[in-house]
Amino acid sequence: AETHYHDFVVQQTPVTRLCRTHNIITVNGQFPGPTIAARNGDTLVIKVTNRARYNVTLHWHGIRQMRTPWADGPEYVTQCPIKPGGTYTYRFTIENQEGTLWWHAHSKWLRATVYGALVIFPKSGSSYPFPAPKIDVPIILGEWWDRNIVDVLRQALFTGAAPNVSDAYTINGQPGDLYRCSSQGTVRISVNSGDTVLLRVINAALNQQLFFSVANHKLTVVGADAAYNKPFTTRVIMVGPGQTTNVLLTADQPPARYYMAARAYASGQNVTFDNTTTTAILDYKTATSRTSSPVLPQLPAFNDTATVTQFTSQLKGIPSLAKVAKNVDENLFFTIGLGLVNCTPGPRCQGPNNTRFAASMNNVSFVLPRKTSLLQAYYQNIPGVFTTDFPPSPPVKFDYTGNVSRGLWQPRFGTKLYKLKFGSNVQLVLQDTAIVTTEDHPIHLHGYHFFVVGQGFGNFNPKTDTAKFNLVDPPVRNTIDVPVGGWVVIRFVADNPGVWLFHCHIDSHLTWGLGMSFLVENGKGKSQSIEPPPADLPQC
Ligand code: C2O
Repeated sequence: AETHYHDFVVQQTPVTRLCRTHNIITVNGQFPGPTIAARNGDTLVIKVTNRARYNVTLHWHGIRQMRTPWADGPEYVTQCPIKPGGTYTYRFTIENQEGTLWWHAHSKWLRATVYGALVIFPKSGSSYPFPAPKIDVPIILGEWWDRNIVDVLRQALFTGAAPNVSDAYTINGQPGDLYRCSSQGTVRISVNSGDTVLLRVINAALNQQLFFSVANHKLTVVGADAAYNKPFTTRVIMVGPGQTTNVLLTADQPPARYYMAARAYASGQNVTFDNTTTTAILDYKTATSRTSSPVLPQLPAFNDTATVTQFTSQLKGIPSLAKVAKNVDENLFFTIGLGLVNCTPGPRCQGPNNTRFAASMNNVSFVLPRKTSLLQAYYQNIPGVFTTDFPPSPPVKFDYTGNVSRGLWQPRFGTKLYKLKFGSNVQLVLQDTAIVTTEDHPIHLHGYHFFVVGQGFGNFNPKTDTAKFNLVDPPVRNTIDVPVGGWVVIRFVADNPGVWLFHCHIDSHLTWGLGMSFLVENGKGKSQSIEPPPADLPQC
């Protein structure tokens, strides 16, 4: 195994998109940021220097961080932010993960522009469970905002309205031909006829699920969230914020230019959605004409939940790679709800009838500490920072798909953790609620990946639904899209001690409090305990 060293300088950089130049926050002046490539088993050492005006932290989304929670990155959860002028070195080893992950800022909404791909090749001496591709390229889907992202965040926090939708979707930072002033930058992938191409599709968008497709080409899905799956072919994939999907395609069509394109999947009934499309070009080198415009793929309608269900139900894991535990020590049930809280009229209270938005799990709207991080508070026994009484099930049961009275779901603010014994087998039901609106929620667990053993629509029924769990070949993920008005059941073994954030990867929802944290206690001896914090860990 090797060790790779990187220097990441977070800085302000002028970038022009949609006819205008903005100062955005980047890493090393690049947008998207640098791609990190390593093999399974390698160690990464990334020295981050903050030359921007804002506090920042970086998160290595999907990396398990075994015993190194100090390198995970969410601000005030595992570390205090790196202040302007400060530095912090993230050091961690990739253990038993292959495929595509990504990295992004995990402070405020800076991840809007601070992100990049994290490509994990097979262990040295081993190879892919599919023929090695000729061309291998990250396809990072993102959003571009004409306004300063810090202002967009403020709007999301204090108004009842959904945040301003972004001004463009992007592929590798470029809106593509269908947006104004954008065709010069459109991403092109040159291929020869017969080439196999591995597209590592990452959804880095702040607030949007996206469909992705390539005109006239079939996609073979071979991995998701840095785990291999049973290959299957499809015309379209849906990727939730935080998720990655590896697809293979063969350049087997008449030599020409074809668009690959992404567009919103917005499942809630009355949500604002943006129906614009971002494109890149699959460009056959032997194409005779470059003047006619490329063929555009057919993308599903913004509310086409049937296509999403069809896609996710085909994703199956590879049983020989990992075994799902048959018994369960912790049986948890979390509701996912949007909601409104009363507030005192003023600039911070702009929702309907003196309210503002809040979101919650089991009616607890998550609040981050400010004076230290949760992990430091736990490790150093600092009292008064958090409590460990996060409820294992909702305080009251109700019809989650129905329109119920506000008394049943009034969220309460809290910094509540749920404590897990080292090694316990955890089952967790995630149930969407119809409060304010039903919606898809891409829920991400830090420090772990998990098996997705079941999912469906309506209220989860423990009797009938448990019987249908897939304990044979469930897919492995780190971010699961809870279907609109439905539920998902995940299982994992609590074998990584630390404090681990569990949250909706739609940033407006996280901002409203849609998250909580697990506290996984040390096991026995060094190999089951948190390593000591690095000497340069930032202080608040
Ligand atoms: Cu991709 Cu908490 O993050």
